Amino acid sequence: MMSDKIIITDVGPRDGLQNQPKILTIEQRFALVEAIAEAGVPQIEVGSFVSPKAVPAMAGTDQVFSALEDIGFTTPTIALIPNMKGYELARAAGAKTVTMVLYASEGMAQKNAAMSMAEAEAITLDILSLAKQDNIEVIATIAVAFACPFDGPTDPTVVEEIAAKFIRAGADQLVLADTIGAADPQQVRALTSALVKSHGAAKLGCHFHDTRAMGLANVYAAVESGIRRFDSSIAGLGGCPFAPGASGNVATDDIAMMLQQMGFATGIDLDKLMQASDLAQTLTGTAPGGRSKAWLQGHLAKQAG
Ligand code: COA
Ligand code: ZN
Repeated sequence: MMSDKIIITDVGPRDGLQNQPKILTIEQRFALVEAIAEAGVPQIEVGSFVSPKAVPAMAGTDQVFSALEDIGFTTPTIALIPNMKGYELARAAGAKTVTMVLYASEGMAQKNAAMSMAEAEAITLDILSLAKQDNIEVIATIAVAFACPFDGPTDPTVVEEIAAKFIRAGADQLVLADTIGAADPQQVRALTSALVKSHGAAKLGCHFHDTRAMGLANVYAAVESGIRRFDSSIAGLGGCPFAPGASGNVATDDIAMMLQQMGFATGIDLDKLMQASDLAQTLTGTAPGGRSKAWLQGHLAKQAG
């Protein structure tokens, strides 16, 4: 039987905030992470260890980690890294899980990390062996798994090869990222069902952006293939500064509501999630909020009333 439990990782404090015109303070980033955890979201991508020149909004991620450690934060946290220097900084900051980025196109590998696809793979293999000794979990995320803003449509066999290689190499999770939100549900169904058939669903996850309003439909297609791990972003914050035209991630607000209504257990308290979503909107001034938000807030108020 397929599991009725779905694990959502909120990537808003990283994928969302990295693309905001407004740079939040460490205290504001910390408050947003705390509010998301308060809502019961089981995993949070807290920030990235990247060049502060490339992504000024992510400067000081080490301080967010130490502020969380100071309060004895228990929700599992994740740090995104693009290279070995990122790994070393994440380890020094006490990260227990890192997301290392792999690429399904040469154009994106160059633009995002100034390396080739093969270089990113070689570094990821090195990180996997170090991480075993350091007792750090590694999530391998394949960027532009469906389409690339520079190189066009992605060949699914390229993604299948990278996925197979890194599952075999011992990645704790393997995430397919639709970095620019270009995938459609049929493509998602085809790729995820092939991967689930080859590798099982336990280690596989999906990361969708809602650029073309197909985020929720893509989540549903992946769920139907057996995928039970999803990245999403509080209030739909997001977009990649190095991928032109990408808008926010599918909103945690929307996917938590949809999956719960379908009977899946997410562990998320929707009332408290709305508070986190409000905070994300207040802090950034630009987060769209989930498309379900107006209905959901009215519904929750009626229930409380
Ligand atoms: N964290 C912090 N600083 C880093 C770093 C990391 N992971 N990797 C490199 N740097 C620093 C270098 O030390 C160097 O610093 P200096 O100028 O003070 O000497 C500077 O960044 C440039 O390093 P270089 O190796 O020449 O890289 P680059 O300029 O070609 O940039 C990246 C490559 C990967 C560092 C940069 O493009 C980057 O951080 N990208 C992040 C992309 C991202 O976050 N994308 C969204 C998520 S997928
Ligand atoms: Zn993303």
